[in-house]
Amino acid sequence: MKQFIIVVFCLFSGLVSAQSAINIIPAPVSVREGAGFFSLKKGGLIGYEQPEAGWAAGYLADELNRSTGYGLKTTQSKTPAVLISTGASDKTLGQEGYRLEVTTKGIKIDANTPAGAFYGVQTLLQLFPAEIRSTSVVEGVNWNVPVVSIADQPRFGWRGIMLDVSRHFFSVADVKKYIDEMARYKYNTFHWHLTDDNGWRVEIKSLPKLTEVGAWRVERHGRFGERAEPRPGEPATYGGFYSHEDIREVIRYASERNITIVPEIDVPGHCMAALAAYPELSCTKQQVSVNPGTDFSDWYGNGTFKMNVENTLNPSDEKVYEFLDKVFTEVAALFPNQYIHVGGDECYKGYWKEDPGCQALMEKQGIRHVEDLQGYFMSRVGQIIQSKGKKMIGWDEILEGGITPGAAVMSWRGVKGGIQAAKMGHEVVMTPTTYAYIDYNQGDQTIDPPIYSGLRVSKSYSFEPVPDGVEAKYILGGQANLWTEQVPSLRYAEYMTYPRAWALAEVYWSPKEAKNWNSFASRMEKHFRRSDAAGVNYSSAVYDPAVKAKRENGQLLLVLESEISGVDIHYTLDETMPDNRSPKYSIPVPVPDGPVNVRVQAYRNGTPSGHLITLKRSQLEARAQ
Ligand code: ACM
Repeated sequence: MKQFIIVVFCLFSGLVSAQSAINIIPAPVSVREGAGFFSLKKGGLIGYEQPEAGWAAGYLADELNRSTGYGLKTTQSKTPAVLISTGASDKTLGQEGYRLEVTTKGIKIDANTPAGAFYGVQTLLQLFPAEIRSTSVVEGVNWNVPVVSIADQPRFGWRGIMLDVSRHFFSVADVKKYIDEMARYKYNTFHWHLTDDNGWRVEIKSLPKLTEVGAWRVERHGRFGERAEPRPGEPATYGGFYSHEDIREVIRYASERNITIVPEIDVPGHCMAALAAYPELSCTKQQVSVNPGTDFSDWYGNGTFKMNVENTLNPSDEKVYEFLDKVFTEVAALFPNQYIHVGGDECYKGYWKEDPGCQALMEKQGIRHVEDLQGYFMSRVGQIIQSKGKKMIGWDEILEGGITPGAAVMSWRGVKGGIQAAKMGHEVVMTPTTYAYIDYNQGDQTIDPPIYSGLRVSKSYSFEPVPDGVEAKYILGGQANLWTEQVPSLRYAEYMTYPRAWALAEVYWSPKEAKNWNSFASRMEKHFRRSDAAGVNYSSAVYDPAVKAKRENGQLLLVLESEISGVDIHYTLDETMPDNRSPKYSIPVPVPDGPVNVRVQAYRNGTPSGHLITLKRSQLEARAQ
């Protein structure tokens, strides 16, 4: 009975004790802690039973050697310190699952596939001290792994992150580093947003101007969306693109880490870079520039908008489909993934409405509303994708005007598009803005540079990808999306991605019943130390309280809510900088009249954590409304 209780208690690693050395993200399905530890020794061997398990063994040896300096070698012999096998023949582990046994004498990883073996290795690495992530040799660390027995497999088959490389360009080295970090959290899908108004990033050999012209824009600094227009004759010097060789290199690197790449060619909207190269593909045929981040659209707050510069392909022009056939021929040949993402989002129809060719097409097709012309366009795109032997996936706007048979839907404007698509029998990837848009601010809106909205890590963690009333089999999984209007570098991409992508990794991998915010938060803090060792950036906004205000009997009250437990919040109302002797928040605080500023600083274990938040009384007043 005692044994039974221990097993149940530890069944989800999310529930292992706070003192445990086991802090795995995403939480494995089952974890049984034992007593003692395995101690890694210099010159040991990493073994693999089958040649196909050799890559995971080599990866593990490289990872361990970098920080331990132990010179571990791989071997196909039977008596190594760590043995990796892909011969588990265990149906319960599926295509990506693994078993990991750590005893005081050695470590064994069993899986059915190289992917499972790779994930066993990732879990094992997370059992080592944080310094294992160091990029150079660290002396004086006991490289111990706790005795444990883990069995694990994912909840969803699609666990993705989207990186927008159009708004800002990321080099091959950056993309590889981003992918490497994703793989450590068992993401298996890299959605590569390759084209948009601000740069076309994939070489299409049959359409050379796409990258000769479309990959480059004038250099601008400052807030994206408020930048100045290109001047006549100004050279376009900012940008870049991926050659076919580059793409093949990234695909190989990703596939070694069990990551498949979904390329996105975003049509018919978001096409200004393509139209800068080939203006004849628009309705007005006016020459446009690759957009450097100017304000060219009006948003009316109810999902409607206007593009003041044309960024849409002309659906009534057969040349557009010839163009798309060329693009998708090369994209389909480059990328092995069965899915090609065709965008479909935020397509402004104003230029279509004015265009005689579009009107004639609508009449011919019996299409009454211009909005529904997108359905015609998407079905033509779907035929092209199908003719290349691929499956089409698009943003949830592809439901409008009639969804193409067999198309998969990426639900971003909430989950309602996903629900609608699943009920029609279409595959769905869930990535609603409200939980999965990691371009949004993570803490107080006054701290990070302003962007469309906010999304705290606890909100991401609370996401449930299978809505009530939807058959789970239609939900392929979910994604985090990083749009990069305000993300100019890999370092900042990491800052925006983590820790929210850790939270979503757990949403998409771990059993629904295992979800436990307090457990995740405690493990997240351990992973901050791992990221510190690795030099990977993350946001510490989780320490920042939500700063709220209310009015009671005419009195303005300051209300501070911490996202995680164990944080002390200190504040001042006297124009001084808060420290850990300043008043500690426990109950709502009356804010005196006058030109008062409130300053708030969180402390974790006596150390200032997160950001100093400063708000004027008027800002608090607004929050009390
Ligand atoms: C999107 O965020 N426009 C898909």
